[in-house]
Amino acid sequence: MALVNTKKMFEMAYKNGYAIGAFNVNNMEITQGIVSAVTEEKAPLILQISRGARSYASMSYLKAIIDVAVKDNPDIPICMNLDHGDTFETCKQCVDDGFTSVMIDASHSSFAENIKITKQVVDYAHDHGVVVEAELGQLGGIEEDIVGVSADDVAKHLTDPDQVVEFAEKTGCDSLAVAIGTSHGAYKFKVAPKLAFDVLESVTKKLPGFPLVMHGSSSVLKEFKDLINKYGGDMPDAMGVPEDAITEASKLSVCKVNIDTDLRMALTAKIRQVFCESPAEFDPRKYLGPGREAIKEMVRHKLQILGCAGKAAECV
Ligand code: G3H
Ligand code: 13P
Ligand code: ZN
Repeated sequence: MALVNTKKMFEMAYKNGYAIGAFNVNNMEITQGIVSAVTEEKAPLILQISRGARSYASMSYLKAIIDVAVKDNPDIPICMNLDHGDTFETCKQCVDDGFTSVMIDASHSSFAENIKITKQVVDYAHDHGVVVEAELGQLGGIEEDIVGVSADDVAKHLTDPDQVVEFAEKTGCDSLAVAIGTSHGAYKFKVAPKLAFDVLESVTKKLPGFPLVMHGSSSVLKEFKDLINKYGGDMPDAMGVPEDAITEASKLSVCKVNIDTDLRMALTAKIRQVFCESPAEFDPRKYLGPGREAIKEMVRHKLQILGCAGKAAECV
């Protein structure tokens, strides 16, 4: 099967109360770890590429790696999504480069401007069979080079349910990223984390059947945080979204859950461990290999949390 868009995945996820994991990729080992997890768990998959990933690894390398993953795993529906596209030009380039989904994130612009840019992207993408994710409301943390709202201000920038119908109708977007208290990176909360399920419910009532997306949804797993801190790292205050909240949202209208930080921490933890325990080691395979394995096991676990394990066949 060739790369797919998210239409069927989201239809089934919404209907059957689960979410698809959207994992960021920057190199071969990260991609292999994720893909072997979904293959073992028979789960549908969204691989996403940020602008930073495009400039780090180059699009042709990343696309070649993903093409191999698609060819080697014909029973797994895989979508390739642009994460946080900033302009029409970036999104157009990605459509032309073979992405099957693009995100236009104009959430930092005014409501009117967000509608205008999103509609422009939708018109071009739909002409090419590509779906579009848009964003309304603002997240905390850092995404690409944009610093989001501070942890103290997250509540003031949640998605306004009164804007969603007009936004969806005027833009024609296929899914909507909502701000419900999650944020990007490893330092999401200063106090006990709580998501705005009331906002999620209001948006769902206004847009019944419409797939929603949760960004900033890493959990900052204790296992990897502890390893990083034990082996010379310094992330004592890292705090993520509790996994039971992710499961709850996945059973509702959230059909796509974005995870990057948990991948980064799994890889970093294992590399630190090898460096500290085997300081004479200098073969990259000896530390990237364990990192890749840790990513695989972590993603297998996430697929259970999201409820999408075993759902590959129904998403085809
Ligand atoms: O939302 C941000 C993602 O974690 C991608 O991060 O722009 O550093 O690749 P990046
Ligand atoms: P995390 O930083 O929580 O992994 O979020 C990733 C994300 O939202 C990518 O778009
Ligand atoms: Zn994001």
